[in-house]
Amino acid sequence: MNYDEACSIVRLSDSEFEFIVDFVSKRYGIDLSQKRRLIEARLAGELKSNGFDNYAQYINALKSDPTSEKVETFINKITTNYSYFSRETDHYDFLANTVIASLSQAKKTSIKVWSAGCSTGEEPYNIAMAIDSALGIKRNLWNVSIVATDVSTRALAVAKKGVYPESELNVMPPAWKANYMVKQPDGNYKVADSIRNKVSFSQFNLMTPFFPKNTYDVVFCRNVMIYFKPATTQEIVKKFYQSTVEGGYLFIGHSETISRLDNDYTYISPSIYRKLKK
Ligand SMILES: C[S@@+](CC[C@H](N)C(=O)[O-])C[C@H]1O[C@@H](n2cnc3c(N)ncnc32)[C@H](O)[C@@H]1O
Repeated sequence: MNYDEACSIVRLSDSEFEFIVDFVSKRYGIDLSQKRRLIEARLAGELKSNGFDNYAQYINALKSDPTSEKVETFINKITTNYSYFSRETDHYDFLANTVIASLSQAKKTSIKVWSAGCSTGEEPYNIAMAIDSALGIKRNLWNVSIVATDVSTRALAVAKKGVYPESELNVMPPAWKANYMVKQPDGNYKVADSIRNKVSFSQFNLMTPFFPKNTYDVVFCRNVMIYFKPATTQEIVKKFYQSTVEGGYLFIGHSETISRLDNDYTYISPSIYRKLKK
């Protein structure tokens, strides 16, 4: 038995590979043009569980019903949902020290944040924790809302549960672990209701043409657009701009930049941009 047979890997023909690259890029923005082996590895189990011998059969099934459960499973397999608590913590510090402080100064008592590409929930829960600890005794006077969206229903199911192994909490500030995570009988930790109540999860594809207008004080879209081509990122950043209130912020991942793209945000610091009056 060779390696492919042992791992149940079925190789894509050139035209099958091109179909999948085009399908994913148009519908979800993700650029897989250099990811042939990754597609084959991630879809191997799907072919097997559907009883398909080759990709032609699988592609026909995707084409025959583009809204089907098969397409949902397909995108769940294709997306990379890697995330963890306390990732790129300076954004949480900025949120607590700069954003909350300036809203308070402006006598505001509400904040609305969008975690776009929230994956398995660590990011939006961390946002809620950062805001809660910054507000302290004023927390009950504020209206805090975090909208968390992702295209992957598999990632969203994990996020909604809000249960994580203790090993995931090692990086979290001890006070946050003590205040916001509740140990379960099986040793895992569940996000406290006071934090869960602030976060609402839903499926949302960033390739959707219409985004909410002038809604969010802060948009987090970190480590999502790294998978997109620059032209796609540019379109999405323009839509984020419309969704951001005047004076609001966009946070992107540390390895990303939008400075070379045509957009109206003002650069504040690496990975932080602001919508300022023009
Ligand atoms: C690597 S995770 C990043 C998670 C989190 N933002 C972080 O920085 O830890 C990227 C997420 O983007 C999501 N994603 C990719 N394409 C998307 C699209 N078109 N619409 C919405 N979410 C998308 C994936 O499903 C995945 O969960």
